[in-house]
Amino acid sequence: MEVAISSKKKRKERGHDSPAAKVRDYEAHVLVCAGGDCKKRGAKDTRRALKAALRASGLLGETRVDTVDCLGLCKHGPNAVVYDGTNPKGTWYLGLDESDVLEVVDEHLGRGTPVSRLAAERRPRKKS
Ligand code: FES
Repeated sequence: MEVAISSKKKRKERGHDSPAAKVRDYEAHVLVCAGGDCKKRGAKDTRRALKAALRASGLLGETRVDTVDCLGLCKHGPNAVVYDGTNPKGTWYLGLDESDVLEVVDEHLGRGTPVSRLAAERRPRKKS
């Protein structure tokens, strides 16, 4: 009887530990909050507008869009974070209405310039 070998063990046998599946080389990753509070404030419309704008500008194939349950800033929603390498900590867009999405797609995801008027400022972390 053949015993099932875990994929991790198979990888080790092949001489490397990296996962067998490859990850598509996206230029950017956008996390859109789909939590209850953001949903109440229009997150579905924001996400729909984002996907439509990415499709229209030809950026959908190089931009990964995922939803998350909560980004922890619920009362400011709809919220989204863009990770594209311009800021290793990500650019947080709070209160990102569908009317602002096109600007984020054109300026940030298209030209690599975060939209400062829409991007949240960072505050120092509280010392514990
Ligand atoms: S529900 Fe969107 S940040 Fe919490």
